[in-house]
Amino acid sequence: MSNVSDCVLSVRDLSVAFGGRNAAQVTDRVSFDVDAGEFFALVGESGCGKSVTAMSILRLLPVPGAKIVSGSVLFEGVDLLKLPLETLRTYRGSAISCIFQEPMQALNPVLPVGKQLLEVLRHESKNIALEKTVHFLKLAGFADVDRVMRAYPHELSGGMLQRACIVMALLPMPRLLIADEPTTALDVTVQAQVLSVLKDLARDAHTSVLLITHNMGLVAQYAKRVAVMYAGRIVEMGETSAVIDSPLHPYTRGLLAAIPERHLNMSSLQFIPGNVPNPKDFVPGCRFASRCSKVKPECIGFPPKQGDDLHWAMCFVKD
Ligand SMILES: Nc1ncnc2c1ncn2[C@@H]1O[C@H](COP(=O)(O)OP(=O)(O)OP(=O)(O)O)[C@@H](O)[C@H]1O
Ligand code: SF4
Ligand SMILES: [Mg+2]
Repeated sequence: MSNVSDCVLSVRDLSVAFGGRNAAQVTDRVSFDVDAGEFFALVGESGCGKSVTAMSILRLLPVPGAKIVSGSVLFEGVDLLKLPLETLRTYRGSAISCIFQEPMQALNPVLPVGKQLLEVLRHESKNIALEKTVHFLKLAGFADVDRVMRAYPHELSGGMLQRACIVMALLPMPRLLIADEPTTALDVTVQAQVLSVLKDLARDAHTSVLLITHNMGLVAQYAKRVAVMYAGRIVEMGETSAVIDSPLHPYTRGLLAAIPERHLNMSSLQFIPGNVPNPKDFVPGCRFASRCSKVKPECIGFPPKQGDDLHWAMCFVKD
């Protein structure tokens, strides 16, 4: 739990539904804080509600279709869900930046990369804009900055493009960067390089990071704290080291057992049987029950919180 003054983002009881009359609620009272300068991860399998949560923050969910049923999103104390849309737009790309899975979506294919980066700093003098951009590109590991500035997006590799997008997102020195699966589309060999650039640049820009990923290995390497999401709910949260060394929730244990890097002997690599249920099939009690090897009769009730404020999980079983 963070002090109000340290907290950049505070999501509270966020519930989102999709559909009209028979709307399915896809997230259920999601709450977490991201502190100033913190690298916070939201992790979970495909379909568990990570992107819906991330997109709710800047109200980027499709309208009509999505409905925020309840909750608040406090950014530096201001509830973004209550702001007039015009005011909210002034936050997008300045105080809060986003990076998504596919870098080409963020770049204009017919403009040189450098021109697009400089455009982000159009309110600064040309010299300062150029100096900052070159500084960030160097920090992002580009040896030949001139070539990158002149290149068109199709002339760069996926990893280079994503690093350019990270530079673009961080040039305005946002207070929060939302990175939704920024490395998923990349070759495994460049994923770590891209995330390490993201971490270094965010530190340089004093930007807090909300990293959305399904990759527990990346969380272990980069995040200070982590929230584990399953079927629309956060089921475990804590310091990454505590969650990884002493996971409390069977789902978290399953995710950890499925990290290939932790299993040099691949025969011990495990997987979680079954799939994340469709929101229309969510049950009132523990939603992991149908896949959990520890399931007990009481698990049909709403699981209690175990642990403490620093590291907790929603589960009946303690061991
Ligand atoms: N536009 C939409 N209309 C209807 N349902 C949607 C829409 N977008 C997302 N959903 C549903 O909301 C749930 C959560 O989706 P979300 O995209 O947040 O998952 P995710 O955790 O980001 O998964 P992934 O790892 O695959 O990106 C899913 O059941 C999904 O089908
Ligand atoms: S509450 Fe029960 S079913 Fe759910 S994760 Fe814990 S032990 Fe498994
Ligand atoms: Mg997603």
